[in-house]
Amino acid sequence: MKAVPKHYYLFSLILLIVLWGCRGELDPEPQITEPETAKKTYQNMVVGYSQIGAESEWRTGNTASIQKAAENLGVELIFSDAQQKQENQIKAIRTFIAQQVDVIGVSPIVETGWESVFQEAKDAGIPIILVDRRADVPEDLYATYIGSDFVEEGRKAARVMADLLDGKGNIVELVGTVDSAPANDRYTGFREILLDYPEMKIIASESADFTRAKGQEVMQEFLEQYGDQIDALYAHNDDSAIGAIRAIEDYGLRPGKDIIIVSIDAIRDAFQAMIDGKLNATVECNPLLGPTFFDVAYKVVNEEYVPKWIPSQESIYFPDDAAEILPTRKY
Ligand code: AHR
Repeated sequence: MKAVPKHYYLFSLILLIVLWGCRGELDPEPQITEPETAKKTYQNMVVGYSQIGAESEWRTGNTASIQKAAENLGVELIFSDAQQKQENQIKAIRTFIAQQVDVIGVSPIVETGWESVFQEAKDAGIPIILVDRRADVPEDLYATYIGSDFVEEGRKAARVMADLLDGKGNIVELVGTVDSAPANDRYTGFREILLDYPEMKIIASESADFTRAKGQEVMQEFLEQYGDQIDALYAHNDDSAIGAIRAIEDYGLRPGKDIIIVSIDAIRDAFQAMIDGKLNATVECNPLLGPTFFDVAYKVVNEEYVPKWIPSQESIYFPDDAAEILPTRKY
């Protein structure tokens, strides 16, 4: 028998491979493919958002940023204003869970008391995103925190104050909302730096609840008690500083001169106060978190990676540049 040449086997093998490769084109039967899990888009995503209230200009800017970003992206936003009450925020979160929203954003008014309602959201499979303020809960109860380093803001305020006072003076402090993350952290950060300045003393410290009205009222009390022993005011936000400025003027002293003032937020009115020579510095706290919030919400809902903290980038502003910068401020 005649031997089959080797190249014949090789040719047959190549032919087989080619035919196998083309089988899809030749096969008239439809291909069965696994359906891809439908990705959420901005247009079919429902977001519940629990806001604290409207205690400050900062907050108003923050609310506007969230609502505008939702509108621009076409996201369905269910927005709830808690009017400064934690119980209203908890109620709102429970309503969002019942409505089966895709994701919940919350700016917790205080740090404590969130564990059970966050657990309820987790059990319902709805991720929580902390915006602006942290809550004191285990890390598995929220997807991420978007916002500032409040301790660092307190440190910055103290460094600036130390410069302005040349390391020596009596300071009064207007604290933010009791038990809130920014009040706790700004209180701590400020004191951390003061350890290096034994001649800078905090002679009075009380909550002004981040409002102008309270800032004015508490500063008036400080003035009645300490009068011109007060060298400086550290206010946890610009609104309380602006209230205090009124009290200082009513008392017959010059804010920004007789009493040095450093506050936090960098709202437009703070720039105006610096231009008027009534405020010595403002440490920025950025409220324009809307675009980042929805970007992160989209990722969380679609199970993409997000870091556990998305920090804001912030500066410090002084009177010298205030007039030039004011027209560019967005809040
Ligand atoms: O949580 C941010 C703080 O809340 C701002 O500094 C203050 O103005 C606001 O009310």
